[in-house]
Amino acid sequence: MRILGIETSCDETAVAIVEDGKTVLSNTIASQIDIHKKTGGVVPEVAAREHILKIIPTIEQSLHDAHCQWDDIDAIAAVPGPGLISALITGALTASTLALIKNKPLIPVHHILAHIYGNWCDRDEKIQFPVLVLTVSGGHNDLILMEDHHTFTLLGQSRDDAAGEAFDKVAKILGLGYPGGPAIQKEAAHGNDHALLLPKATLDNPFDFSFSGLKTAVLYEVQSKYGKHFDPADLDPTFVRDMAATFQQTVAETLIETLFRAYDHHAPKEIHLAGGVSANTVLRDHAQTVFKPYNIPLRYPKKTQYCTDNAAMVASCGYFFYQKNPKGYESWRTIMPNADFTF
Ligand code: KG4
Ligand code: ZN
Repeated sequence: MRILGIETSCDETAVAIVEDGKTVLSNTIASQIDIHKKTGGVVPEVAAREHILKIIPTIEQSLHDAHCQWDDIDAIAAVPGPGLISALITGALTASTLALIKNKPLIPVHHILAHIYGNWCDRDEKIQFPVLVLTVSGGHNDLILMEDHHTFTLLGQSRDDAAGEAFDKVAKILGLGYPGGPAIQKEAAHGNDHALLLPKATLDNPFDFSFSGLKTAVLYEVQSKYGKHFDPADLDPTFVRDMAATFQQTVAETLIETLFRAYDHHAPKEIHLAGGVSANTVLRDHAQTVFKPYNIPLRYPKKTQYCTDNAAMVASCGYFFYQKNPKGYESWRTIMPNADFTF
């Protein structure tokens, strides 16, 4: 079964075609990064306009890349939320219109659950349930226990900033540009990751996360050395590298400590990292070190493009949802954009 996936929840206009939930035939992404670099972050109105301009050409390109015609597509999957409402509308309503005129089933897919399926893309090995998943992205930070393709339990989430958001904000403080995650990872490669002690939050729910205190601690460190109204361009390069490395190491340790607590409590058969921050090599290496003695499969998406926002993960997730309940997706009306969409 071939599913065409559409994703427009933030700053990527993405369309993909995936066969049977795992064989990625095309994964086409019109990135807005160069546009949002100018403002140091995503301006929702600007993102929305770009999605409108790019959605049809990206669909056409994705069909072309996969050597498919509309007759080869069995269903459409798209993201109604969560995300930026002005951005979600374009993807969801385009999917809905195409489902109507092309007479295809339409499968709504939650953006965070879609991220989980980045681990199914291009993967042949059989995944064993239950799977404990840490989804770490710019907008969300969730710890999810997945019993099968239809049963997801939210164990914990971020109480404030998600890890990716903290990466982006700390990169801004340090003058490293947007998006912050890859910029910090690059800078940190030559820094001392124990240059200073940064705080790790402790919360009532042992599976929750909080990164806003860490971000503020970095700001205070910079201000104590360079004054309240510092210019990031004036920061000493060694100081920036050490701060980036220490921040990154602290985030990795905090995430994996929380993941380990959940592993210890729920005894899953596999552990998965997903979402944009799961592209981070220090996070991956740290997870590998911590879980190695326990001999449990630890997976993260096979390609970086399946970590950050993409539509292959949407099409993959849509496939497994459809298998459970094909009759539930017959109407083009099944999708309604919703910034706070829950699962
Ligand atoms: O999953 P994603 O593409 O979008 C959301 O759903 O939010 O995640 C984007 C986030 C950004 O905050 C970006 O800085 C972060 O993922 N990110 C990384 C890396 N690559 C992307 N964070 C740390 N290290 C990376 N290599
Ligand atoms: Zn995302």
